[in-house]
Amino acid sequence: MALTITIPRPDDWHVHLREGEMLDAVIGYTSLRFRYAMVMPNLSTPIATTDQAITYRKLIDQATPAESPDFHPLMTLYCSSQLEAIDLLHGYKEGIVKAVKYYPAGATTNSKSGGSSMMDFAHIFTTMQDAGIPLLVHAESTNPAIDIYDREAAFLEHELDIVCNNFPEMKVTVEHISTSAGVDFVNAHETVGASVTPHHLSRNRSDMISPAFHADLFCKPVINSESDRRILVQTVTSGSPSFFLGTDSAPHPTKAKYGKEAKAGIFNAAYGLEVVAEIFATENKLENLAAFTSENGAAFYGYTPAEEHLVLTREQVEIEVATHLSTESGNEVVLFGAEEASHWTIQASID
Ligand code: NCD
Ligand code: ZN
Repeated sequence: MALTITIPRPDDWHVHLREGEMLDAVIGYTSLRFRYAMVMPNLSTPIATTDQAITYRKLIDQATPAESPDFHPLMTLYCSSQLEAIDLLHGYKEGIVKAVKYYPAGATTNSKSGGSSMMDFAHIFTTMQDAGIPLLVHAESTNPAIDIYDREAAFLEHELDIVCNNFPEMKVTVEHISTSAGVDFVNAHETVGASVTPHHLSRNRSDMISPAFHADLFCKPVINSESDRRILVQTVTSGSPSFFLGTDSAPHPTKAKYGKEAKAGIFNAAYGLEVVAEIFATENKLENLAAFTSENGAAFYGYTPAEEHLVLTREQVEIEVATHLSTESGNEVVLFGAEEASHWTIQASID
C-alpha cells in the first residue's frame, strides 16, 4: 500500500530567490509549494534598506506565477555597516521587513558585506530586542585556523553565545544547523530556534567527497559527519518545537558549481520537501512531519499554520522526474533530491 500523509502547506524559513533570470527560473518552485518564504538578502548588492526590500519584493511578486496558491515572501535586511536601526524599525513597523540576517564576512556566497564581530552590531540588536525583530544568523567561524568542520561550533561558542547573553530576549535563529553543537546550542537557549535543511538531514561529508568530489553537495556550512547528521535527524523527527524547515535553496548555474572555484549552495526548492518526507518515512516518524515543515517555524515567528493542506504519497513505482532546470539564457541548475522525488507525489488537498 502506498504511504500517504497530509500536512498543512509548508513554509520555507530560509531561501535564496536571487534576481534576474535566476529569480524567474526558480521562483515557481517555491511559490507553488510553500506558503511563507523567508527571503535571504545576499544579492550581489545586499538588501540593507527598507527601500531596497520594497524594490526586491516587487521583483519577486512580478516573477511569481499567477497560479501560486498562497505565497508570501518575507523580506529580510542584511546586517552590514549600511543597516540603520531607524530604517530597520520603520521597515518592520510597516510590515515590510521581517528579520535581519547576519553573515560573517567571507563565510559564504555574497557575504563580503557581513560582519567580523557580531557585537559590532550591538546598537542594532538593542533595537531588535526591544521591537521583537528576529535575528537570523549564519553561524560559521571564518577563522582559518579552525578546521572547517568545527566552524559552526566555534562560532556558536565565541560569537553567538555572547550575543545571546547580552540580548537574552532577542529572538534568534541559527540558520542551517549542521552539527550536534548546533542542536545543543538551540536546546540551551530559550529564545533561539534553528532552521534545518534537506541536504544536512540526508547527506554526510563522505557523500560529498567520495568516491569523487560532488560540487552539487557543496554548500555552507559544509555538510558534516554522519554522527552529526544522525543527531539532526533524531532532533527534527522528534517534533521538537525549536527546529523547523529552512531549505537554504541556493541556486548556482552548473558552470559556476563545476568550475575551478565551486560556488557554495544547493538548489533544493524543487524536491526539498520530498527529501524531508523520505527521511521522516524512513525513521517511521511521518506523524511529526507537519511539525517540522508547517507548524514549528510558523509558531516561532508568530504565525498560525496554513489552512490549506498538501497530500504527500510515497509511490511503489518510480516516477520520472526532471534533474535540471534551465534559465532563459540556457544556464543549467541541478535539482537536488531527484532520487527521493522519484518516489513521491505531492498534491494540494481538495477538501
Ligand atoms: C548560499 C548562497 O549561495 O547564497 N550558499 C550556501 O552554500 N548556503 C549562502 C548561504 O546561505 O550560506
Ligand atoms: Zn542560505
